[in-house]
This record gives sequence, C-alpha cells and structure tokens, in this order.
Amino acid sequence: MKKSPAALIAEKRDGKEHSADDIHALIQGFLDGDIADYQMSAWLMASYLRGLSQGEMLALTEAMLDSGRRLERGRAETLRVDKHSTGGVGDKVSLPLAPLVAACGLQVPMISGRGLGHTGGTLDKLESIPGFSVNISQARSRRILDRVGFVMMGQTRDIAPADRRIYALRDVTATVACEPLIVASILSKKLAETLDGLVLDVKVGRGAFMKDEKAARSLARSLVDVSQTSGTPAVALLSNMDTPLGTSIGNTLEVKESIAILRGTGPADTTELTIELGAQMLLLGKVTTSLVNARRRLRQALTSGYALERFAQMVELQGGDARVVDDLSLLPQARHRLLVKSPKAGTVSDIDPLALAHLSLDLGSGRKRASDKIDPGVGIELKAQLGDRVAQGELLAVIWSQDRSALHVQRAQAAFRVGRARPENPRLILSHRIVGKSLSR
Ligand code: URA
Repeated sequence: MKKSPAALIAEKRDGKEHSADDIHALIQGFLDGDIADYQMSAWLMASYLRGLSQGEMLALTEAMLDSGRRLERGRAETLRVDKHSTGGVGDKVSLPLAPLVAACGLQVPMISGRGLGHTGGTLDKLESIPGFSVNISQARSRRILDRVGFVMMGQTRDIAPADRRIYALRDVTATVACEPLIVASILSKKLAETLDGLVLDVKVGRGAFMKDEKAARSLARSLVDVSQTSGTPAVALLSNMDTPLGTSIGNTLEVKESIAILRGTGPADTTELTIELGAQMLLLGKVTTSLVNARRRLRQALTSGYALERFAQMVELQGGDARVVDDLSLLPQARHRLLVKSPKAGTVSDIDPLALAHLSLDLGSGRKRASDKIDPGVGIELKAQLGDRVAQGELLAVIWSQDRSALHVQRAQAAFRVGRARPENPRLILSHRIVGKSLSR
C-alpha cells in the first residue's frame, strides 16, 4: 500500500531508510500535486538532518531524472561527454572546454546553470555575447550538436522538473548544503543529457561551496558512484579554489579570457585546468587511452585555432554576434576602469576569492534576488598573481565599474595581501582521477 506523505516524513524524521519505490512515489506525488510544498519541505529538512543512504541517494537521483525528458541521441554515432563544476570564482572553464573537446571528435551537449550564491554561471557569461540565446529547444540543440559537436544551453522546462521545484524549496528552507540532495540535483540534470561519460570538477577552498578537502572528496565519490551506477561512467577531479581561477571575474571579462584560452594565450591555470578536464573527457569518450596523448591532442586543437573556430560557429548558431571572437570591443563594457594599486612593495602572498566575488556581485555581475538583472560589463581583472613581486603603486587589479566609488578600490585592495613571505605554490589539482564504482541497489 502507498504510504501517506506524513508517513514518509515520519519515517525520515525517525532516521529510517526509504525503499526505492517509496522515493519514486514521493517525487511523483510531489509532481502530481498529492504532496504539498510544505510536506516536501518537511521531508527535505528531515533528510538534511538524518541524511540519506547511498541507495536512497541513487533512487532520488533516478526519480528526479525520470521526472522529465532526456536529450535524444541524434543519428550521429559520436560518443557524448560533459563536465560539471561545483562552482567557484572566475571559473569560466566550460566556455573553452566544450568547443575544445568537440574539436577532438566528441559531442558535448552542455546544459548549464546560472550564477549561484557568490559563484558565476556559464549561462550568464554566454549571455554577455550580444544576441546569444541559451534558451534552445531540444530539436534546435540536436541540429547545433550535429553541426558543431557541442551546444551550450539552459535547463529546458521538461528536463528534471522535480529538481527545479525541489531546488526552489531548498533555497528557502536552508536545505541546500546537503550532500545527497546536491548529488541528486546535479546528476538529475546532467544524466538527462544521455551521456557516455561525465567529468566532475569538485572545487575545494575559500571560494568554493566545499571549504575542506574531506567534504569535497566525499561529494566527489558520491557523484561518481551514483553516476556510474545509473549507467554513466564518471570521473572526478578535486581542484583548488583558494584563490580566483585565471585573471578575470565578471561576465564579459570571463568571455574575453575564454577566447584567449582558445587562442592559446590564456592564463596558465585556467588553460591547465581546461586541458586536464578535457583529457579526462577524451578518455571517457574513448578518443584515446593515453592521458599524454589526450593532452597533446587538446593542445593541438588550441594552437591550430580549430577549437576557436568551433566556438565562433556555435555562437552564430545560437544567435550571437560571432564577430566578438575577433573584436572583443563588441562585448558590453562598463563605463569606468578603477585602478587598484599596491599600497607597498612586496610579494603577493594571498588573494581572497570570496572578497573579490562579493565585490563583483555588488558591482552587478550576479544576482542577489532571482529577479535581479545582471550587468555583463562589470567585473575585476587581476593584474598580479599569487607569488608576484610588486612595487609600491604597481597595479594589482582593474575594476570595471559603472560608478567611480573609492570603496570598490578599497575592497579590492583589501582582498590582496602583500608582504615579505613568499606563498607556498598552491597545487591547482588536488586529486586527479576519482573513479566511480557501482553501488548496490
Ligand atoms: N548545483 C545544483 O544544480 N544543485 C545543487 O544542489 C547544488 C549545486
């Protein structure tokens, strides 16, 4: 007999384990309107406090995935892979990565999200390209995939609708930061892409949602195990988010940096992370069995200009002005450039990603409320990196702002520490290849 909503909530409240059938009934009941928002909220809080077993996390992921449609496979035999990042500061890697991997012969049907909290979102960055549309129908996304090998779009209404509604409840009931709920939410969308392989970039550090390595490693393991058990081979990397990634924060600025990466002239750290994630995607997509060979192919696709060409084609097919690739001045630009100078001579020993992310958010690069409009032209360009020696008065950063407030400059200056100590060289990738194992059902 089907359990009542109150019985399911009581079961979880008392720390009992649900059957997979009960979890499917819970999600279906919620979508059908038989379970009210307040009952789902109570169940979410009970799950937050009591946790979910591996079996429950798997069932929840699959129930949320089954709540909607999946992207259909086209005629092409080409294998499909994708990457998901848990979010950071200055993380624009998806933009160069998708065309790069497509240029190496795989399909990348990338469904991305918008900025969340202090982190930027791929869709918001892409929308700084004039005319670019992320709202693509399934039929159009298939045509774009067949033409250029990748598409970059938002979650359509029929992909994982249960996640959309549950996420909205989690957001307002303090139940976001819960590993099994995060796993089910991320994978219900990514697995709807009907992939042959998924690479997960789990960020660790001050600028990430996961501040410590233990929690990040646990999330990475859960993601790869659930993905693997649901039929999509997955690999996770742990990467450092203790300083901003690359040299830009803000939408237009991050598109510029992405184009530089595709030209082979991007910053070393973003380029390295793009290549490392891409190499794992090529292995999952069976382009090669050697990591060394995968990296070489990816570097070739950068230096030949082939990946940049694909990016321009995708921009055009999604309604954007592809001339931005050769003329960056076509991207929206904030009115003023505020110079942030070093108050003293020394070595840059720390750059606080969270402080810069919040400054960028206050400049208008992100949303504080869902209804806020983003200003694509604002942001922060880093002119000094960790470990750089700077003279007094030397440039640390440039703020792209619509006003000239001196407070912006003070806040950016405070995010840099300049001293005598040389910082330890931080490792960009903390863990290279966490692979999935099958969970018992
Ligand atoms: N991103 C998602 O899509 N869902 C979460 O729960 C957290 C991050």
